[in-house]
Amino acid sequence: MPHKIIIDTDPGQDDAVAILLALASPELQVLGITAVAGNVPLSLTARNARIVCELAGRADVPVFAGCDAPLSRGLVTAEHVHGKTGLDGVDLPDPTMTLQDMHGVDFIIDTLRREPAGTVTLVPIGPLTNIATAFRRAPDIIARVHRIVLMGGTYFEVGNVTPAAEFNIFVDPEAAAEVFAAGVDLVVMPLDATHRALTSRAWVDAMAATGPVGRAVASWTDFFERFDKAKYGHEGAPLHDPCAVAWLVAPELFSGRRINVEIETQGRWTTGMTVADWWGVSGRAPNALFLRDVEAPALFDLLTRRIGSLDRHG
Ligand code: BDR
Ligand code: CA
Repeated sequence: MPHKIIIDTDPGQDDAVAILLALASPELQVLGITAVAGNVPLSLTARNARIVCELAGRADVPVFAGCDAPLSRGLVTAEHVHGKTGLDGVDLPDPTMTLQDMHGVDFIIDTLRREPAGTVTLVPIGPLTNIATAFRRAPDIIARVHRIVLMGGTYFEVGNVTPAAEFNIFVDPEAAAEVFAAGVDLVVMPLDATHRALTSRAWVDAMAATGPVGRAVASWTDFFERFDKAKYGHEGAPLHDPCAVAWLVAPELFSGRRINVEIETQGRWTTGMTVADWWGVSGRAPNALFLRDVEAPALFDLLTRRIGSLDRHG
């Protein structure tokens, strides 16, 4: 039986690759995609999610628009990384599939109430606003979630948007704090792991050779790689969000520790920091599996095979 998942996302080129990996993976059944404001405003993330579904030949996947702003702060976006549309790098047609009428938060609540308890995994790869809002509105669903596998946070690698914070957590730290405190089984894919999964020229070329879907992935990667190259000085770009989906398909590729992770919401310099008790010094109970490493060659091989299969069967 495939794992039932809801992808909560702010596409974003790396979100797009994550969605493609999920749609190409028989181990996963994507019940729906909920868009959230993050890399770009909600109108664009909701549009981009549909563009990606159509690119994969999966206009049947329901896409919902969720929250357009963090719980209690103004929205911070990342056009400097992802471009004006959020999916800069290749021109793809406007989506023809329509956005669902229902709000994304209602979809999350309804789905968790409808499906048998403990069978639905949430996969947030953007700010945690939709998930925290669903938990606030319907606390009864919290115990029904099988697991949350999210991309966000950083510890050893320090921040990418401030010196202390990773983007997804920084954009809505109050939401993150509520989700981390909810008591759900949590798997956290921080920068510490994703910065060990850098794309290579050979991989981008192999991806491009698979067909139109692979070419889109290659163009997206080339686009946002420019930012990472300029910033970090290394060749290649980290594929953050696909790592979260890859953990669901092949957890053996990743290693980490079960530790306590708290979210800083009040810091003068550190708001959005994931305070990760890697060395177990706090005495606080573990609340997350915090990943730190990935077998990068195997991860990229998985991506090429799976996303390439969309071109072969698409
Ligand atoms: C995260 O922030 C976004 O820019 C990416 O899509 C990813 O989810 C990395 O910090
Ligand atoms: Ca994202």
